[in-house]
Amino acid sequence: MTETNTPSMPALLGLAALVAALATTGCGAPGSIGAPGEPGSVGARAAAGSGGAGGAPEDPGTTSSGTAPPEDGAAALFWKAFHDGDHAAIPEVRQALDEEMATSPNPYATFLRAHVDLWELMEVALDGDDVGATARLALAALDNFERAKEDNPQDTRLHAWHGLLVSAVGQATANPLMYESGIDEIELAVPSGAPTIVGAFTLMSVLSRNPPLDPHFAAGVEATWATVELCAGGPVDRQNPDMTGLSIDGMCHNHTITPHSWQGFWLSAGDVLAKAGERDVAETMYRNAKVGDGFAGWLYAPDLEQRLVDLDARIAAYQDVDPFNDPPIGGSNLCHGCHTNDAGK
Ligand code: HEC
Repeated sequence: MTETNTPSMPALLGLAALVAALATTGCGAPGSIGAPGEPGSVGARAAAGSGGAGGAPEDPGTTSSGTAPPEDGAAALFWKAFHDGDHAAIPEVRQALDEEMATSPNPYATFLRAHVDLWELMEVALDGDDVGATARLALAALDNFERAKEDNPQDTRLHAWHGLLVSAVGQATANPLMYESGIDEIELAVPSGAPTIVGAFTLMSVLSRNPPLDPHFAAGVEATWATVELCAGGPVDRQNPDMTGLSIDGMCHNHTITPHSWQGFWLSAGDVLAKAGERDVAETMYRNAKVGDGFAGWLYAPDLEQRLVDLDARIAAYQDVDPFNDPPIGGSNLCHGCHTNDAGK
């Protein structure tokens, strides 16, 4: 199954590449489903207050859409650095969160601590081939996500993100059982009847990394449509998923913590459909990134424009027999394409 994706690459380079895929997953699209557009509850953040110590979360907090980041404490430091795309601040943010976890433990600090590792993992993966650093960070991230899950048992997004890491490590180390257990865990965040957008998007990102003829890839395409429909609040025309004029408010849209999640999502979704060889649908999806506000100032606007120009070549690269020339889904839109403020570029 998945081995065909990276047949002879060193396993951990595979990990770097895979882990790169997770960015587009983790948070591709916002949280708990319910009615799209519902502000949703804040989960760990509600429990933690503004970065301080917290009580028990009141709600199965599976979304933070529509809420502003905390204004003080280590959490504020995280969001400032993350929104600014300030990679150099990672050690300082990590230390602040570690200190807060030691002095006034709270679920949101643990939650963010895991994401710091994930963020750095993406940066390392983008930088190329520091296999040792990638492996160390992946292990640390797994530990920290396990702790975050314990501290935030109500937050199903953590199943998606942890499962993503497990499947990435499983794939990179040619361990199909581990890969499948990661997928199983992500599926916990997509229960039938009450799927979360984060869960569906994560499945999309992980499964769509498989070769186009692999059944896992077909499941990834299905997860892409599931995500689109969750965002749209109902069935969409799969031949022409044009979002122009639709009022899709709330969770799938850009908001304070994810200034460009709308654009980032459609970039990845277009890539999946390009990989499936569905040219017109892919093009419509790429164009959806331009619907509504936010495209002009977006970090990845040039990448998306380039895809529209190169679409045929992109499809050809996916369709040929060489898995090494397949452009990664979402490209280098790891964390920053969705989370970086325009000012932070
Ligand atoms: C495709 C767009 C996209 C990408 C790429 C992305 N995210 Fe997100 N992220 C989102 C969205 C949308 C949410 C809001 C989810 C919700 O409300 O449940 C989110 C939520 C989060 C949260 C939770 C915030 C909170 O207070 O609850 C963190 C932390 C986070 N992302 C970090 C990351 C990191 C680290 C990366 C890279 C590894 C990343 N994200 C990549 C779109 C994205």
